[in-house]
Amino acid sequence: MKLQLVVLLILCVLSSAFGAILGVDYGQQFTKSVLLAPGISFEIVLTDEGKRKDFSGISLRGSSPELAELERVYGSQIGSLCTRFPQSCITGIKPLLGKSINDQVTLDYLSNHFGVKLLPDDSRSNGIKFDLGFVNQSYQFVPEEIMAMNLNEIKQRALGDLDANPHAQSIVEDITVSVSPFATHETKQSYLDAIKLANFSNPLGLVDEGTAVALNYLSNRKFDKSDFSNQKIYNLVYDAGAGSTTATLFSYNVSFTGKVTLEIESIGYDESFGGQLLTQSIYNILYEKFLQQFNIKDADDVLPPKVASRLQETAERAKIILSVNADFQVSLENFYDDKDFKTVVTREEFEDINSDLMSRSTSPILTALRDCPSGPKSVKDLQSVILNGGSTRVPFIQKHLSQLLGDDKISKTVNADESCALGTTLEGLKLKTQLENQKEIKLIERSFHNYETSIDNMDSQTIVFKSGDVADNSTKVPLADMSDKRDELSVNLYEDGHLIKSYEFKDLQKKIEKFTCSKNSDDIKEISGVFTLDHNKMFDLTDLYIECKSSDKQSGGFFKKLLSKDGEDSQATEDEEAKETDSPKNETSSNSTITKSNTKSKQPKPLRIPLVKPAYPHVKPLSRTTKDRLFSKLAYLNAKDEERIILDHVRNILEGQCYELRSHIEDNEEAILKEISENELEAYQQFVRDTIEWLDFDSDNASLEELREKIRELNQNKKKLDSFIEMNQTDLSLDGFKKLYEEGSKIVMQIQSHMLEFGSEVSEIRQKYEGEGFAFDKENDRIKLQLLSKGDENKMMALDKNLASYREDLTEIGDLTGKEKKFNKLSKFQLYEKYDALAQKIVQMLADVKSIEESHKARVGLFNAKFEKLLARKKQKEYREKLKEEKKANTKKDEEEQEEADFIEDDDIEEVNSQTTQQQSSESSTEGEKSTESPVHDEL
Ligand SMILES: *[C@@H]1O[C@H](CO)[C@@H](O)[C@H](O)[C@H]1NC(C)=O
Ligand SMILES: *[C@@H]1O[C@H](CO)[C@@H](O)[C@H](O)[C@H]1NC(C)=O
Ligand SMILES: *[C@@H]1O[C@H](CO)[C@@H](O)[C@H](O)[C@H]1NC(C)=O
Ligand SMILES: *[C@@H]1O[C@H](CO)[C@@H](O)[C@H](O)[C@H]1NC(C)=O
Ligand SMILES: *[C@@H]1O[C@H](CO)[C@@H](O)[C@H](O)[C@H]1NC(C)=O
Ligand SMILES: *[C@@H]1O[C@H](CO)[C@@H](O)[C@H](O)[C@H]1NC(C)=O
Repeated sequence: MKLQLVVLLILCVLSSAFGAILGVDYGQQFTKSVLLAPGISFEIVLTDEGKRKDFSGISLRGSSPELAELERVYGSQIGSLCTRFPQSCITGIKPLLGKSINDQVTLDYLSNHFGVKLLPDDSRSNGIKFDLGFVNQSYQFVPEEIMAMNLNEIKQRALGDLDANPHAQSIVEDITVSVSPFATHETKQSYLDAIKLANFSNPLGLVDEGTAVALNYLSNRKFDKSDFSNQKIYNLVYDAGAGSTTATLFSYNVSFTGKVTLEIESIGYDESFGGQLLTQSIYNILYEKFLQQFNIKDADDVLPPKVASRLQETAERAKIILSVNADFQVSLENFYDDKDFKTVVTREEFEDINSDLMSRSTSPILTALRDCPSGPKSVKDLQSVILNGGSTRVPFIQKHLSQLLGDDKISKTVNADESCALGTTLEGLKLKTQLENQKEIKLIERSFHNYETSIDNMDSQTIVFKSGDVADNSTKVPLADMSDKRDELSVNLYEDGHLIKSYEFKDLQKKIEKFTCSKNSDDIKEISGVFTLDHNKMFDLTDLYIECKSSDKQSGGFFKKLLSKDGEDSQATEDEEAKETDSPKNETSSNSTITKSNTKSKQPKPLRIPLVKPAYPHVKPLSRTTKDRLFSKLAYLNAKDEERIILDHVRNILEGQCYELRSHIEDNEEAILKEISENELEAYQQFVRDTIEWLDFDSDNASLEELREKIRELNQNKKKLDSFIEMNQTDLSLDGFKKLYEEGSKIVMQIQSHMLEFGSEVSEIRQKYEGEGFAFDKENDRIKLQLLSKGDENKMMALDKNLASYREDLTEIGDLTGKEKKFNKLSKFQLYEKYDALAQKIVQMLADVKSIEESHKARVGLFNAKFEKLLARKKQKEYREKLKEEKKANTKKDEEEQEEADFIEDDDIEEVNSQTTQQQSSESSTEGEKSTESPVHDEL
């Protein structure tokens, strides 16, 4: 059975509770995104051009450096824009997320993104800002903003897809984004900030790319009984993208009951080996050839950014062509110094220059194998190697892979472009539902870093979670005892020895003043931290407690305790261990566990010390105020874009209408000229020409209001011209008007006779009601309300008004037909206007009459139906009373028996009820519902 199918079933069951889940693979070069929603099963969110992948990044164009007007361009247009305007292009930012201006990747970035200027973002300890040369400083961008723009643009497209889908709500707040398995804490923080900026209110989490591919791979596999072996089977995801190459070793295990467990075992990676490095190598070949050909000695960057970008674009093309051809002809006109640059690169040259890179393509695989000692000894023991990422298509890389692995190991069962996005979305669903479904893959993820802590400024760090530990776990660690009456404590958190953040706790003595341990004077206070490695594999201090600890049991606190895990065991630490095993998976249980264990030993409850804001020595996350500022900046740019779209739309409408009117005039020239002179017609034509010219040349800064005004003018002109065309088909003679007047008068009479008819029908009904003793007026009010709620009664009032003004117009025409002299004085156009006005009103009146008729019919229907019902009810009542009388007459017994009779009577009524139901067809069956309704109406 296909897992995706199962997943879909789950989704269907829960669909009402679901918006959509978006999974995004934000690559260095391309981004792929997948949408999952009721009625949308893992579908790629297409770009506006219908492509399945989108350029990561953006081209930002300002009308001038001074102007605040900024236009953002996404999608495939970026390619050519970035070659022409490299300095206003921000692409390939993935490696910059969470990095500082001084990091090596930043320098590498500048060496292949020509013309781009980076500034230190001092507000974030040497973070990075892109400077595009705009005077307005708010048009400098941090990498998170660029990623947020991309994600937000995807969100808009996804919303569009949902709009088009009848089963799904238009909500995309749940998002999962894949990250490199080697992503640092800062990088992940950067992703999370970007997701928030992109206006996703519910980030589900980050997924390692290798994990995503493994999930996708397993979800596509069918397992039958023969696979139920309860044995780990090892596979490896080899992922070579534009910027980096990773190997993710994973195992899966199908239990005897068919439950699949996916366990991520180890990874290997090269953070800078990827497609871009290969492109860069071709760039270098071309650059050398260029220097030679142009006889340039000084090899320092002589190329201006635009020229360098052109060469880079050529290198990128060469890389692709050399995948299939043995050579690539370069021909760049007017390349440098007004001269052309023509040359050839061969695949041999390409492979030569990269021969030393060979080992880099495969070493991640060997690292991953090495780091999983209990796993496969060599590639021979792998079931398969799953290829993912665009660069796995490069023949050069394929050749080296098959040398290492042998062709039979290479699996191409997943879509190398989309598998990561698909798996990311699948993980999003897992995170969203948290369902422990038997059919669902259980995923065990591990940390690939060591996470350490130290207190104060001690150099010695102690491992809290080590590389290979299972992620999504918390642990309590004693940090320091308070025997030194310390007033301050700093807790430092590290990732592989790199300081992530420090918490500085001050005034401790004051905070713990009231906290006293038991009489036993040996009891000492100890501070413990709860450390968490969450499902995003981000390390943090999540709680700090002060608690009591008996000194005789105390075995040296924090460091000894941690050491003891490695062997030096003692009674005390065993207790500790035991506590720790039922210790927290999350904050809630952490609370309760600690409370419980302490009640047992009759110690006071641990006192929670509120966490403080940490300090970040490296790249700071965006602060709340910065995030707010950036969020409104993006909102502003979005609003501007939206405005521009509306403006373009209205402009297109105006343009379309201009051309339409132009040909309309041409088509009807003859008819129009019967009514007006050539000069007059020319004026209309000139108006259309002027408007088109204005649109083409003078409307760049036109406001929406100006455009709408032009549309109004255009429509007025069109209406006039249409009148001229219509005039010829209209009998505007006195006789024609007389006829019109007759027609018009007929309608008034028709309405009057209708009214009379309606009136008498209603009074008949009144008589009928009153004859039976029913309250007509009450019913009348009720029905009025009922009709009003459907808008019918408003029609009546509208008719009254329309009729009044109609009569006025009609009288005017009537007068006119009686005064031939006055009539003859009117111009043809004036006559036409009058004629047309009345003719249109006649049409309106006819429609009104029709709707009044319908409304009256509905009213009579309601009266009659209610009458039948009231009648039936009355008959029942009479019957019941008759029965009562009979009973009374027959049995003049004591009270007890009387009660019994009442009881029987109830039964009888039901019998009668069912009889009437049978007699009276469907009307009675709705009685229950109707009669509960009527009191409400009566009250109203
Ligand atoms: C800079 O741009 C922002 C829009 O993000 C705008 O509100 C602000 O007025 C501009 N400042 C200047 C000096 O133009
Ligand atoms: C959670 O972490 C603690 C401390 O590192 C460890 O002893 C425990 O086994 C972990 N739990 C799981 C489920 O891995
Ligand atoms: C915390 O874990 C407990 C069980 O260990 C679970 O019932 C609870 O839902 C979890 N809470 C959160 C917020 O994850
Ligand atoms: C933990 O306990 C404290 C009080 O001891 C309480 O205020 C807090 O809400 C609890 N946290 C959770 C996550 O239950
Ligand atoms: C953010 O998303 C919400 C919900 O989709 C939407 O109502 C709001 O307008 C968005 N805000 C911005 C600034 O785009
Ligand atoms: C319309 O124009 C034709 C001549 O093209 C003329 O014979 C005819 O009488 C006109 N009709 C009206 C109602 O003016």
